[in-house]
Amino acid sequence: MSKRLFEAYKDYFRVGCAVSGLFLMTPAEREDHFKQVAKRFEEMRKKFGPPPAGFKPPEPPVFSDGSSPELEIAREHFNMIVAENETKMDAVYKGPGEFNWKMADRFVQFARENNQALRWHTLVWHNQSPEWIFEDEAGNKVSKEVLEERLKKYIFAVGERYGNDVCSVDVVNECISDKKFCLRDGSDQSKWFDILGPEYVDKAFFWAKEAFPKASLVINDYNLEMSEGKRRGMYELVKGMLSRGVPVDTVGLQMHINITNPPVSEIEETIELYGSLGLNVIVTEMEVSAYIDKDFSNPDPRREYTADFLEEQAERYRALFDCFRKEAGKGYLKDVVLWGTSDRFTWKNNFPSPGRTDAPLLFDREGKPKPAFDVLIRD
Ligand code: XIL
Repeated sequence: MSKRLFEAYKDYFRVGCAVSGLFLMTPAEREDHFKQVAKRFEEMRKKFGPPPAGFKPPEPPVFSDGSSPELEIAREHFNMIVAENETKMDAVYKGPGEFNWKMADRFVQFARENNQALRWHTLVWHNQSPEWIFEDEAGNKVSKEVLEERLKKYIFAVGERYGNDVCSVDVVNECISDKKFCLRDGSDQSKWFDILGPEYVDKAFFWAKEAFPKASLVINDYNLEMSEGKRRGMYELVKGMLSRGVPVDTVGLQMHINITNPPVSEIEETIELYGSLGLNVIVTEMEVSAYIDKDFSNPDPRREYTADFLEEQAERYRALFDCFRKEAGKGYLKDVVLWGTSDRFTWKNNFPSPGRTDAPLLFDREGKPKPAFDVLIRD
């Protein structure tokens, strides 16, 4: 039998992947889901006009014969999983005291069946939070007390149900501003900060500690490895949290990076910076885009994924995983999670450039291993 990816790294770190809930739905649920997507698409079209040229709606997750290479890949090659969308607050918290556990339960079951560790992504985030949580019945902004109570109830409800199932929890996601490098505030999309003030981060961690006494508690963000300012901003934040006795124990580097940037040396520096504070570091959402996209408002044109490109990408993955191995050896890095399995089904298709596909993962559009996979699995 061929070698399994996670086994190649078992002495260093766990290797995980994000799995979309679409793979865990029944055909009828999936059909219903795509009907809803089409409906939303139509509403958007009415509101904003036709989609950008070349835009393709997401592909169904299973082939016409019902098979799904992605699910097989997730089972075979990863010893940790995380839900791509189904454990975000908008998927679970449906109203005051109202929860939808259906898909989260399936992830717990899937991880159990496959003997995999499970991460919870995420408790507090300015995106994919339900609108109702910030509003009262008249649609006005809720008070600090009300929102705090709602958040606390949520964290305890999730902890009560899954505290024994999840080993790692993204308590706060993407809280550092890209512009100011301090906490993202109300003018920078965070209704949490706007209503609760900066102390929401500490509070969420204290509640999470009580609700998930066995899990590691993560503060997770993107571009920490890419932007010196953001890296420093996170450093100052977690240093302050530690000095206040806040139970954060891990920094999550999302690692949505590309074929060129950032250099591996900068990633190494980032891991060691947080490690120097006594924190663990994990890679939470990695992929290696084919596009550099210096400016998201003017993204690179589509390129061909030639054999040369695939080799270059394989070398890049090799260098990154060499660095991860080294940092795990020093005791800093604990887990490496990829944001998906195959290029057919990655959020980078259409983002940040609608209509442009990407090829950032280890398996291709047919679910076949790419050169990057072969390189990683080699001793
Ligand atoms: C993305 C999912 O992959 C998409 O399916 C969804 O439409 C939007 O969110 N940072 C995060 C992840 O923390 O939750 C995001 O996931 C990618 C960026």
